[in-house]
Amino acid sequence: MTLDIRAFLFDLDGVITDTAEFHYLSWKRLCEEEGIPFTREDNDQLRGVSRRESLNRILKGRAIDEATAQAWMDRKQGYYLQYLDTITPDMALPGVRDLLLEAKSLGIKRAVASASKNAKPALEKLELIDLFDAIGDGYSVVHTKPAPDLFIWTAGRLDITPTQGIVFEDAEAGIDAALKGGFWTIGLGSADVSRAHVRLPNLAGARVGDLLAKLSEPSLT
Ligand code: BG6
Ligand code: MG
Repeated sequence: MTLDIRAFLFDLDGVITDTAEFHYLSWKRLCEEEGIPFTREDNDQLRGVSRRESLNRILKGRAIDEATAQAWMDRKQGYYLQYLDTITPDMALPGVRDLLLEAKSLGIKRAVASASKNAKPALEKLELIDLFDAIGDGYSVVHTKPAPDLFIWTAGRLDITPTQGIVFEDAEAGIDAALKGGFWTIGLGSADVSRAHVRLPNLAGARVGDLLAKLSEPSLT
């Protein structure tokens, strides 16, 4: 089968920049204040899922009322904003800017599809926002990852079908969402992205031709 790739759809946290660490540190602070155990391993379960679902997973069945849940999410967001403020353009992860520029030069559209409500300010701080044709974020759809809705919404903005898009993700929830939507997937990093079509440690040195060649391997098509 010949690939007909017209767009790259990038997750943000943990793919474009290491804000996954900022989410972790912000939740960790809240959990310490509230006496809730929270480890880095727990944090891997929060990758890709919404703020609300993150809190649910942190609570592990502990019951809190709605007002408390809102207050805790607001407090975590306040801590996160302090980290967001420290983002500078050199904090894009290795290879990301070059891959975006190469894709642009080849006429491949670029989008962000992130569950985060902080995606746009983060992209502004990174000075990458102008390299994207569309941005889907935590405000775009009701059902975020692992539902496919956010990727499909973003594909609509790009005017492509799912099979014309490659999704770059560092989270199991994100890979599951992209596969459900019918996209090609590239899994990055050390969390469980084993269901992705192709897995890479990161995007350092990534070239469009190499990525397309990997996805064209006979075992995948
Ligand atoms: C995802 C992160 O991109 O966004 C999650 O991987 C985070 O860890 C989610 O919880 C929601 O982010 P925000 O910025 O809306 O709290
Ligand atoms: Mg991510």
